[in-house]
Amino acid sequence: MSEFVTDSDWAEFKSKLKNKTEIDLDLYKAPQMQRRISNLVKRAGFPSFSAYFDHVCKNKDDFAEFIEYLTINVSEFFRNSDRFDQLENDIIPYLMERSPKLNIWSAGCSIGAEPYSLSMIMKDKTPNMKHRILASDLDIEILAKAKAGVYSASEIKAMTPERKSKYMVEQDGKFAVKPEIKSCIEFKRHNLLKDKFETGFDLILCRNVVIYFTEEAKDQLYAHFFEALKPGGILFVGATEAILNFRRLGYTSYKPFFYQRPL
Ligand SMILES: C[S@@+](CC[C@H](N)C(=O)[O-])C[C@H]1O[C@@H](n2cnc3c(N)ncnc32)[C@H](O)[C@@H]1O
Repeated sequence: MSEFVTDSDWAEFKSKLKNKTEIDLDLYKAPQMQRRISNLVKRAGFPSFSAYFDHVCKNKDDFAEFIEYLTINVSEFFRNSDRFDQLENDIIPYLMERSPKLNIWSAGCSIGAEPYSLSMIMKDKTPNMKHRILASDLDIEILAKAKAGVYSASEIKAMTPERKSKYMVEQDGKFAVKPEIKSCIEFKRHNLLKDKFETGFDLILCRNVVIYFTEEAKDQLYAHFFEALKPGGILFVGATEAILNFRRLGYTSYKPFFYQRPL
């Protein structure tokens, strides 16, 4: 328990948050979440988590900002570009040998940089084929930003100049994704720790999402992803999120950070 929050305040805060947002903090690592929220509550000068929560609930913008802080939405195009190179040059060609039209899921897509990066890769590879990309996140506000598809220069800094001129339009110092890149993406609100999963995916990306999930919640999530993948399908995780017990969950390791549901 963090020094700042008492057991009863934590319980009350968790219950209020769950009722309003369906976010169940029992599935997240308590010390890390408490530390993170304490910083915010102290900075805002409130005596308890619960009092702070009551305050942010009164204003739509404050509430959205709080949820954004809680869920950590940091993202960028082609994040960890060496892994995206591997995805583009090895994993996707491999998957397309068996399934020319791919069904892909960007789970925890945040501002949309990840699904749009994927869409650009697929457009370059197969300009006349329409693949499907499902992009989901828990946070409704961030999904609105994702759908709008407008970014700062720093969010697209890892994009090649060729892709930038081919797929983005500059408007007042910002960069908007072209409709042809948007058209294959389906945005949806989805809670990875609660909602039902679709099945039949060739590729699932879940990167930089599980950082604060408990070990049990992660195991449960990876088991659900296993069921959501087609046999032979691949799960791509974040650069610090290697799945240590992947064998027990039924996966084989295709390459570091890429796990396969066996054929
Ligand atoms: C740091 S961003 C990662 C974005 C992108 N995948 C990347 O690697 O750049 C983490 C995202 O996970 C989302 N998230 C956290 N918990 C979630 C949950 N239980 N279900 C769905 N999304 C969740 C957050 O809202 C946030 O947008």
